[in-house]
Formats: sequence, structure tokens, C-alpha cells
Amino acid sequence: MHDGDRPGTLSVSKSLFIKSFGCQMNVYDSGRMADVLALAGYDPVSDAADADVVILNTCHIREKAAEKVYSDLGRLRQLKDRRRVAGRPLVLAVAGCVAQAEGEEMIRRAPQVDIVLGPQTYHRLPDMVARARAGERAIVVTDFPVEEKFDHLAAVSPARSASAFLTIQEGCDRFCTFCVVPYTRGAEFSRPVAAVLDEARRLVDGGVCELTLLGQNVNAYHGVYGEGEATLAHLLGRLTEIPGLARLRYTTSHPRDVTEELIAAHRDLPQLMPYLHLPVQSGSDRVLAAMNRRHRAADYLDIIERLRAARPDLALSSDFIVGFPGESEADFEATLALVREVSYAQAYSFKYSVRPGTPAAEIDGQVDEPVKAERLARLQALLDEQQRRFNDAAVGHTVDVLFERRGRNAGQLAGRSPWMQAVHADAPAETLGRLARVEITAGHANSLSGRLAAAGTEARG
Ligand code: SAH
Ligand code: SF4
Ligand code: F3S
Repeated sequence: MHDGDRPGTLSVSKSLFIKSFGCQMNVYDSGRMADVLALAGYDPVSDAADADVVILNTCHIREKAAEKVYSDLGRLRQLKDRRRVAGRPLVLAVAGCVAQAEGEEMIRRAPQVDIVLGPQTYHRLPDMVARARAGERAIVVTDFPVEEKFDHLAAVSPARSASAFLTIQEGCDRFCTFCVVPYTRGAEFSRPVAAVLDEARRLVDGGVCELTLLGQNVNAYHGVYGEGEATLAHLLGRLTEIPGLARLRYTTSHPRDVTEELIAAHRDLPQLMPYLHLPVQSGSDRVLAAMNRRHRAADYLDIIERLRAARPDLALSSDFIVGFPGESEADFEATLALVREVSYAQAYSFKYSVRPGTPAAEIDGQVDEPVKAERLARLQALLDEQQRRFNDAAVGHTVDVLFERRGRNAGQLAGRSPWMQAVHADAPAETLGRLARVEITAGHANSLSGRLAAAGTEARG
């Protein structure tokens, strides 16, 4: 057999390029795919043109996100043709939520794709890649294997930054009527507490001091713990016992799964940062019911009030959908009213996008595109104004910043405040990967500028 992936046979170059679309979990997953392929000898490269294996890790959440993949695949087809002629064939794999949703259909539409693999099958990648390199075509693996992928993935490799993601929960059982995630990621699954703590310690040993716990519905977490199960609040408490882990965050939460215990964690755990992404989607009870969110606007406002009582400096973020089927002008104005009531530090807002196979795609009263565009512009103007006000309020204060990367200008570093604001400041290179006190000198639309504060300055947060 002509098997280049077997050690000691042919010397075949092994390099890997992965591009991530979509949410933070895809970023995490791309890292895990790189880890599992590193064990098979694949080194990461920063350009698809230099790679032997290219993986697109895709997102299906809105039509635009899914379509982006096909424009990339068009370009990669040309690269693949050139590489075949040059005698260095390229293996092209599509992973993630589009892969899961489309399966074999993807290969019919884009025959240049060699491998289509769903998010629950990443641990089998080395085998799939070896088969493709041996000449097998159209490998499609989109089942939800009974054995858990997390048990079979390679140990997480040392982090590249002081801030890292850690998936603790995956999949969703909530079935909001607009959303593909329950179909692409499958049923809700929580990783055991011991596995999460192990991975967290490994990351902290590698220099991480901030962890963001990830899950599609992360506050529904219920991982195995001893004879029973632990909640997210309990897990957060255990994580704070790891020396050197200065900051904790979690995302994304569902309002229905915010418990009294979790609210208390925001009061009691200083490592838990004062920022929460808590999507509400709409301020209209009629629309919330049609979305199957199973809470009313008043329930959401009540949760926010209790959270703010527990942690008065808590900054809030949310997701909004405008133009959900049947949304009237009055429904939309209820969303604006809710936004005014809460006052967000930042937010993400989207025009409703019809997703095939979801219940909302079948609802009568789809809203016209120009109406959606106009509502989105009005909502975003309000949210931008609130974000700007929030950023301006930081000016003159000294805040802790975790510097994670180099800034745009020479001598500058960039990091995040406790409230997730991007902060730029001139700082010596050795500050990279560390927490430092920064006096905020200016607020901008999406970031803050500051200067390193003199030692001994009292920091806010
Ligand atoms: N709970 C998930 C939400 C994933 S989707 C999480 O962990 O991130 C992120 C956001 O995309 C949703 O909150 C929603 O606002 C938006 N979204 C989902 N489906 C959509 C659709 N069909 N059209 C427009 N926006 C959508
Ligand atoms: Fe989608 Fe709703 Fe689940 Fe979030 S909670 S992933 S929006 S179904
Ligand atoms: Fe997109 Fe899948 Fe994440 S659809 S948002 S990549 S869970």
C-alpha cells in the first residue's frame, strides 16, 4: 500500500491550515482539531497555499454565514487544481455546523471537498485525513457518536494567549424556533467536572490567567461530579481554587437557566468578571412566545435587577433578532423599550434569517427585507449610543487590563478590561500575558485608550 501517513514509508509533508467561522466554540474546536492532528504529525501554517490539509470550520446560524463557505470553496477549488498539477495534492475538509446540516449535499454542490465532518466527530479526523490522502473521495461523517468525542481528543496543547476558551457544555435542548443549533450540535451534553478542572489546570500551567467557559447554553451545565451532578455555579467555585486563574467568564447563557445560586456566584466570586452576555432576542412577549424562549420581557428584567443587586457594576450584553415572522412595529418598539430599560455595555443584533428545517421558517408573516433593515438600523443606533456612553464613563478611572496581544502601533499592547472593553495602551513587551493597571484616557465606539498607571494606584475592578 502506498500509505504516506505511515511512519517510515514515504516522506510526505504534513502541514495544516484551519479557518474558523462563527462562534467562539468553533474557535475552540479548531484548536482541538489542530491538537488531534498534531499527534498525527501535522504542523499548523498560516496560509492555505502552504498546507497539505485545509479545514474550513463552518457556521450555519444565518444564511450569510453559511454562504460565505461556498465562496471560500470556490477559491480553494482553484488552489486544489494547481496543486494537483504541481504534484502536491491538497486535502480539503469542511467541518462544523454547515457540514453537519448539509452532509452529502455539500459534496454534490462542491465536489472539490474530500471530507465533510460534523462537530461531534473531530476525534476521528486523523483517520479521515489518512484515508483521503490514500485516495479515498467523499468521506462524510456526520453521526453523533455514542462514545464522547471529548474522551478521545488529544489533551489541549499549551495556550497561545493569556486568555483561553474552554468548552464545558455543548448542544442545546431549548429549541428556539429560529435556531439551527439543536440540529447541528445535537442534544445538550455537559463534560464531567474532573475533565474541566484537568483542562483548566493544564491551561493555567501553560500561562493562561483568564478562562471563558463555553457552551451553547452554558448555564444549563450539569456535569458529573462524584455520585451526582454539579451546577455551573459550583463549577465556577471549584475553578476559583486554581492558583493563578485570575479571571473567569462564561458564555452563552439562557435567561431561563439563570438560578439564584448563579446570581450569588456573581456576588461571591471575585474572579468572576462583572460582565454577562445574556441574550434576550426581543422585548415583545408575543414574539418571545413565538420564538419559544419561554420567558417574558418582565422575567428578563427581573433577572437583570437581581444580578445587579448581587454585583452592582455588572455590565450586560445581549443578542437581538429583528424582523422575526409576525413582528409588528409595536413588537419592535417593545424591544427598544427593553434596551432603554437595561442599558447595555455592548450587544449583537441581527435581521431574522430563515433557516430551513426550523419551525419559524414555516410561520406566516415573514417580514419584508426593507422593514428588517430599517428596524436593525434603529436598534443598532440605540445600542451604539449606549455602548459609547458606557465606554466614555470609564474615562478617568483606573482599571485592570489583561494584555493579550500587540496593538496596532509600535510599543502598544491591547487587552480587555473586566467589562470586556478592548483597551490599548503603550506598555513594555513583558506586560504581554499579564494584568496591569491602566488609567483610561479616552473612550471610543468600540474600545478605550489608556496609559499604564503608576504602581500602587487603586484599580476599579
Ligand atoms: N445560545 C447560543 C446562541 C447561538 S446563536 C450561543 O451559545 O451562542 C447566536 C445568536 O444568533 C442568537 O442569540 C440569535 O440572536 C442569533 N440567531 C440565531 N438564529 C438566528 C436566525 N435564524 N436569524 C437571525 N439571527 C439568529
Ligand atoms: Fe439556539 Fe435557543 Fe439553544 Fe441558544 S438557547 S442555541 S438560541 S436553541
Ligand atoms: Fe454557528 Fe454552529 Fe456556533 S451554527 S454559531 S458555529 S454552534
